[in-house]
Amino acid sequence: MSLDKEVTEYTSKTARSRALHEEAVAVMPGGNSRTTTFFDPYPFYFQRGQGAHIWDADGVERLDFNGNYTSLVLGHAHGDVVKAVQGVAENGLSFPGPTEHEIRLAEAITRRMPSLESLRFTNSGTEATMNAVRLARAFTGRPKIAKFEGAFHGTHDWVMVSVSPDPKAAGNRKRPKPVAWSAGIPPAVLKHVVVLPWNDQEACAEILAKDGEQIAALIVDPILCNAGLISPADGFLPWLREETQRRGIVLIFDEVISFRVAWGGAQERFGVRPDLTTLGKIIGGGLPVGAFGGRRDIMALYDPRQGGARISQGGTFNANPVTMAAGLATLNALTPEAYARLDALGERLRGGVSRLLTATRRKGQVSGVGSLFWLHWTTEKLTDYRSARPKDGETPLRVFMGLVNEGILMTQRGLGAIALATSDEDADRFVNALARVVARQ
Ligand SMILES: Cc1ncc(COP(=O)(O)O)c(C=O)c1O
Repeated sequence: MSLDKEVTEYTSKTARSRALHEEAVAVMPGGNSRTTTFFDPYPFYFQRGQGAHIWDADGVERLDFNGNYTSLVLGHAHGDVVKAVQGVAENGLSFPGPTEHEIRLAEAITRRMPSLESLRFTNSGTEATMNAVRLARAFTGRPKIAKFEGAFHGTHDWVMVSVSPDPKAAGNRKRPKPVAWSAGIPPAVLKHVVVLPWNDQEACAEILAKDGEQIAALIVDPILCNAGLISPADGFLPWLREETQRRGIVLIFDEVISFRVAWGGAQERFGVRPDLTTLGKIIGGGLPVGAFGGRRDIMALYDPRQGGARISQGGTFNANPVTMAAGLATLNALTPEAYARLDALGERLRGGVSRLLTATRRKGQVSGVGSLFWLHWTTEKLTDYRSARPKDGETPLRVFMGLVNEGILMTQRGLGAIALATSDEDADRFVNALARVVARQ
């Protein structure tokens, strides 16, 4: 079935969403407030979520393998999280000062990630990476930052560089040029962002040898979550650790998504201790959140005691008690057994998809770790952003839309996330739905 036919089927089932979208475009550009979630001709409107299930404005039920872009690790409306939110909300939603809830969530996070000796909360992952980058610059006195080609770290200027560049504009694979990901990024930003190729130690060594003394921070998503879930090659993260330490570069692990892959995040799974870590999504239990933290001597720049902080951090809703309580209830439910269950679900789903692709001789593969997976429509070995970048951008969209029509939601580009509320049958339902989509395409 062509993309057009899938879209026609979609529009025939989503009349109420279409009507809502028409009202929305009158008051918001494109009808919404989140570019990532938009797809043509209009996204369906959500009415309700429970466990692994969602219902749209037309009453159609689907299985959710998006989980608000990996945030909802327990699933929708988990009883403990809802109870925690209700209990706290009754006593006031936010205050011009701290509450005990903030300490308890900070403790729960630092217990899981010993590298976070000290941390602060924000309202989003974007604010977390923005603060971490500023902090590294303040601590080192250096002007530049380094990031990997294809990595997404939120939507502030410093990291909206080379997120999904056209390789023609980005030049040599071993020495990628910084490319603005958005209109409105000033040229000064591009001069201060050094772009590295993922998993290419030799090329990274050359770039760092040339620019290293100017680089304050290297920000790394340990599994390149937004560019195909490309795991680090053996030894790559430990090498980055050594190399940054040797050059006085602050190593930031952006674990906004990868915190999902183990009780102590990707840093536990891969055994590497960064200087700073950024978090978001699952630590807020479904409410807006972010956090950044790490070495006590670096975080001390935010300490307002004795003469004032060298970096001022505002945020009217930072660490509000409702988010803190939702986050703590979520982390309490994420026991080591819960991670083992998420891993097993991930293996079941990835195994089913791989067998399907082999049986149907379809050119494709599935990558991922733990509860995260990504569908790729190539058999090329996946090592970095460029190898994972689809040569034909329509296939992922056609599969996405086909799955929506089959009662499954994932992300448009192929990233999927499994919630703890997902059953074995739900994982099999995903594979069976994909089989029908593949068969008709
Ligand atoms: C790795 C990573 N860093 C940062 C962010 C930004 O987080 P937020 O959307 O909460 O601003 C995201 C969001 O998807 C992310 O995946």
